[in-house]
Amino acid sequence: MLEKTGSTQDDLVRLVGEGKAVSGDVVVAEYQSAGRGRLQREFVAPPGSALLFSSFITPRENKGEWGWLPLLASQAVFAALQSQIGVEYKLSLKWPNDVLLNDKKIAGLLCERTNSSASPGIVIGIGINVSMTKEQLPTPLASSLTVEGIPAINREALIVSILQNLTVYLKRWELEDQKLVQEYRDISSTLGSAVLVEMPGGVKYQSKAVDVEKSGSLILESGEVVSVGDVIHMRADE
Ligand code: BTN
Repeated sequence: MLEKTGSTQDDLVRLVGEGKAVSGDVVVAEYQSAGRGRLQREFVAPPGSALLFSSFITPRENKGEWGWLPLLASQAVFAALQSQIGVEYKLSLKWPNDVLLNDKKIAGLLCERTNSSASPGIVIGIGINVSMTKEQLPTPLASSLTVEGIPAINREALIVSILQNLTVYLKRWELEDQKLVQEYRDISSTLGSAVLVEMPGGVKYQSKAVDVEKSGSLILESGEVVSVGDVIHMRADE
């Protein structure tokens, strides 16, 4: 565990590039001075208030099939959180891979493919807002376990559970378990919601999210198939 670093994601991507990391390696930090989120956003958390780590995986399947893996990583985080906090809390997933608690974001994931030809894989960065106070939250759409009334959670137990779940889900995916997509649908709060989707180029679609594909893409009622974009749940977020 690092007391402080720029970004666990940058650290692990660099180690992979230098041939110094193998599948299963994890970098954890108490504080990041340059934490990164999806779509070039920053990810900010005061020291000790979040669980911040990155993990390197080398999935066996053909790279063209890796689109499900960011969603799979969020399934693993969901399962671990549910096992730690209990089923009575309203946990859900917002496409592609945010974890919501009571419709507010408590965890974000950043999945990046590595270019190392010796060891092609994905660095999965996970940030979970554990004990942030209301004042420390980055946006009104975010929350933390503490703010949602969840008593002190053991961060070591949570990270171990996430990594164990990740291994289990990856194994299931490698064995082509057809139930994974349906299980994602069951815990998604995006599906069935009115959404505003902003594509990387700035194009926006307003529609209803109706399904996810095995490739990880989101399908809108209006016919668009979205593989990368930012989603706003209209009812919960507006
Ligand atoms: C997002 O919500 O857009 C994704 C956030 C991912 C944040 C985690 S924290 C650990 C790892 N290091 C980073 O710099 N980012 C990820």
